[in-house]
Amino acid sequence: RLLIIDFGSQVTQLIARRLRELNVYCEIHPYQKVTMDFVREFAPKAVIFSGGPDSVTREGSPRAPQEIFDYGVPILGICYGQQVMMHQLGGTVLSGHGTAEFGRAYVTPTEERIEMLGGWFLDQTEQVWMSHGDHVSEIAPGFKVYGTSPHAPFAITADLERNFYAVQFHPEVHHTPNGKTLYENFVRLAGFAGDWTMGAYREQMVEKIRDEVGDKNVICALSGGVDSSVAAALIHEAIGDQLTCVFVDHGLLRKNEAEEVVGMFRDHMNLQVIHADETELFLGELDGQSDPETKRKIIGKLFIDVFQKYADQIDGAEFLAQGTLYPDVIESVSFSGGPSVTIKSHHNVGGLPEKMGLKLVEPLRELFKDEVRALGRELGLPDSFIGRHPFPGPGLAIRCPGEITRDKLEILREADAIYIDQIRKHGLYDEIWQAFVAILPVRTVGVMGDGRTYDYACALRAVTSVDGMTADYYPFSHEFLGETATRIINEVKGINRCTYDITSKPPGTIEWE
Ligand code: XMP
Repeated sequence: RLLIIDFGSQVTQLIARRLRELNVYCEIHPYQKVTMDFVREFAPKAVIFSGGPDSVTREGSPRAPQEIFDYGVPILGICYGQQVMMHQLGGTVLSGHGTAEFGRAYVTPTEERIEMLGGWFLDQTEQVWMSHGDHVSEIAPGFKVYGTSPHAPFAITADLERNFYAVQFHPEVHHTPNGKTLYENFVRLAGFAGDWTMGAYREQMVEKIRDEVGDKNVICALSGGVDSSVAAALIHEAIGDQLTCVFVDHGLLRKNEAEEVVGMFRDHMNLQVIHADETELFLGELDGQSDPETKRKIIGKLFIDVFQKYADQIDGAEFLAQGTLYPDVIESVSFSGGPSVTIKSHHNVGGLPEKMGLKLVEPLRELFKDEVRALGRELGLPDSFIGRHPFPGPGLAIRCPGEITRDKLEILREADAIYIDQIRKHGLYDEIWQAFVAILPVRTVGVMGDGRTYDYACALRAVTSVDGMTADYYPFSHEFLGETATRIINEVKGINRCTYDITSKPPGTIEWE
């Protein structure tokens, strides 16, 4: 296995992800924890030093244990990791002097590149991503330079004798397009077979959860979304009936959704699931409310109250399970206290653990969405579940602009089910990030048979996106749209007009409220 020493970079987890993609098992540990005893115990086959925000020129800044350089395994240092290596091995690192470099840069190989494992990374000039204030001004004895950029004369350095490699840029990020090759060469040279799989990850996480939780009880707010579902399935595998899930049914779910989710987890996967049907409470409080933020706030608050009420009935629950993913972690780190404005108050169970005095179990914290899906498959969740489009916490409330009524919800459920059925039938479901119907707060005149109708209009929405932050409308064919509109209008009583929303995000948002 490979040890990543974390010096605090925002992108350390991306290194882990690159390695998992290469089927290499790695663990990230903060530098404070990594003593030489720890290293010997861990017995890594190779070590990577991550980047970090500090400056090695500052006294007391993070270091690696000095003896690690005599431990005899390959070491790769990235950014701050490079500087730590150079500094600890007798090179010089300087701060300031206008040498900071952020963003895109181009690294050119030096004459020496032939020696580098058959062109270790660079056969030609490569685009890389730099993000550093300090820079190495003198490399350590034994090192040579293998790549330079205009502002980083020591962009790639190595001591081939000892298998130490050190780069100034970040090969793990997207903007270093060939960065993966560098990791590939590094792990090959370190002798990794590349036979680690998600199955192994599952086993390791199961062990870890057992260790963490012991004989205590865990509660989980199951939403039916991929993340909370995979988290629940994994935790259940680890601790069985010490886990209880609460499925808060706010009456704003899609057609048959509550039955399907509860049925699958309770009957198919044998989890303990409490179906908290609080439709009356939620719809009662929402009655007459038409302001989007007010609606969201009411739902968010009630959700927490309801969850707490049910959780209080579970004996000795000390942990709250959450399906937090790595991107959520990065976002909350980089944006907390930041200057961004609230477009919509997103609703989740944040804040619950402190309020209830619970510890968190977040077994997906290191994973990205596609990895969570792979893990879900590994755990036996059906494909139809794993590939589901995202569904927002406030549910149909935000697809029903203006006042919510039971009638409108019923109409919306029927129309949405037909729309999704159409999308599936045409084999388009997996191409689309999210698709749904919104019921509009207007009624329009139509003619059906020989009679006049005065019914609701609805809007179909379908977008492509990578992360939900930006989105474009999906270019359905006119045939598809025509056929779908006909079906909805014919089959759903209460709708007599159908429109297709072709707004991108920005300027629109994906949901209507
Ligand atoms: P917007 O409408 O902001 O949506 O463009 C972006 C993505 O987030 C989902 N969404 C939510 N998810 N709680 C959630 O869990 C919420 O309050 C919420 N609001 C929007 C939306 O469905 C889309 O995928």
